[in-house]
Amino acid sequence: MKNIDWKNKLILAPLTKGGNLPFRRLCEHFGADITISEMAYAYKLFQGDRKEKVLLRRTSKSGVFGVQLAAENLGVAIEACQMAIDEGADFIDLNCGCPINDTVKRKMGSHLLQKPKRLAKLVEGMVRHSSIPITVKIRSGWDEKNINAIEVAKELESAGASAITLHGRTRSQRYSKKADWDLVARIVQEINIPVIGNGDILTFYEAEQKKEKSLCASLMIGRGALIKPWIFKEIKEKKSWELSTQEKIEVYSQFAESMKDYFGHDDFGIKRATPILAWHFSFLSKYHPLSKEKFEMQSKEHPLMQTRLDYPEEWNNDPLNKILSSPNEHHHWKLSEIFLNSKSPKKIEACILQLN
Ligand SMILES: Cc1cc2nc3c(=O)[nH]c(=O)nc-3n(C[C@H](O)[C@H](O)[C@H](O)COP(=O)(O)O)c2cc1C
Repeated sequence: MKNIDWKNKLILAPLTKGGNLPFRRLCEHFGADITISEMAYAYKLFQGDRKEKVLLRRTSKSGVFGVQLAAENLGVAIEACQMAIDEGADFIDLNCGCPINDTVKRKMGSHLLQKPKRLAKLVEGMVRHSSIPITVKIRSGWDEKNINAIEVAKELESAGASAITLHGRTRSQRYSKKADWDLVARIVQEINIPVIGNGDILTFYEAEQKKEKSLCASLMIGRGALIKPWIFKEIKEKKSWELSTQEKIEVYSQFAESMKDYFGHDDFGIKRATPILAWHFSFLSKYHPLSKEKFEMQSKEHPLMQTRLDYPEEWNNDPLNKILSSPNEHHHWKLSEIFLNSKSPKKIEACILQLN
């Protein structure tokens, strides 16, 4: 069995659509130690779905990479695990958090939290048949009346899971409440396998506070990375990196180039990359530099992820940042086209200014 060190790692969360290979590479470039694929349905892999198989591609040769699977049937899960192993995955993560109806109706994702013993059987079987570690990503529970993460975590430990990630919200809460890091701390005390804490990290100091408070082994970051992929560098260097407009343009340009390397530099490749990069701009546009002093108090009361997603008014008089931080979907498409069609920062700036 391959050994993975789960201590003090920064992990890019599994992100459907967002966790495409160019984005995972960008996060690895900025210091993500471990990346995870978008959620792949085991039954689709089993049926030979080619689109689903693409999700198994490794981020890079050297980084640690896991494939996240949604599964409920052991035989199908074992086949899917083997496909991920054949594609070079370092570990498999079982999704027990997906809240969407289609997944839950098929008895996968957060549905699995409702029957801890049945879930443990599935994980035990996957562990037995897999040559690489099996981890599990869970939520606090199905809803506020059924918070059972501690019970689930204990079952998963007994079943042989190598690590557990807790996203401290219930399925029914979605993103309406702040993530429960006290529950992360409680699970750390209850089990002996590494616990990865996840939820609401947007700054290096929130990362530090949450890790210190919960004593979790490692941190997983989702929306914080979509908004500022350089968050991994900030956490590692223990300081905010407030990007100038030029630096932002450089990062977005690097991402657009990586998209083209992946999808193709021709018209067809650009056509495929445009909606995906536009989608990323709906998150990247939320980036707004934060001064630690000004916001530290606020972040203690409310996670910055929830209070800082408003439109930054002070950029109204800055024509470049006005567009780069625009919440308007039309601007996201235009930015995507501009970055995919030009490499020159001067030309990019000129094109963005024309959108005002
Ligand atoms: C766009 C998007 C896609 C997501 N896709 C997945 C997924 O495929 N599998 C999964 O386990 N969680 C998924 N999540 C949940 C995240 O992995 C993470 O648990 C959640 O966003 C909380 O972390 P954060 O506060 O750092 O964003 C997704 C979240 C977002 C915003």
